[in-house]
Amino acid sequence: MSMRATVNESTCVGCGLCADTCPAVFEMADGTAKVIVDTVAIGDADDCRKAAENCPVEAITIDE
Ligand code: F3S
Repeated sequence: MSMRATVNESTCVGCGLCADTCPAVFEMADGTAKVIVDTVAIGDADDCRKAAENCPVEAITIDE
C-alpha cells in the first residue's frame, strides 16, 4: 500500500489544521498547505486521513 496526499491549493483557505494534525505530511507555506512527502508513511496514515476529513473546505485528497 502506498498512500499519497494532495492539497488543492486553490481550495485551501490556509486554516492550518492539517499541518497541526499531521505535521509529518503537511506544512504551511505562504498561507497554503503543502504536502512535503511523496508517499505517506504507514505510521502517519491515520493522522493524514484525519487531516483530510477535518479540512473545512475538503481541499485534501487521499489516494491509497
Ligand atoms: Fe488548507 Fe484544509 Fe489544510 S484549508 S491548511 S488544506 S486543513
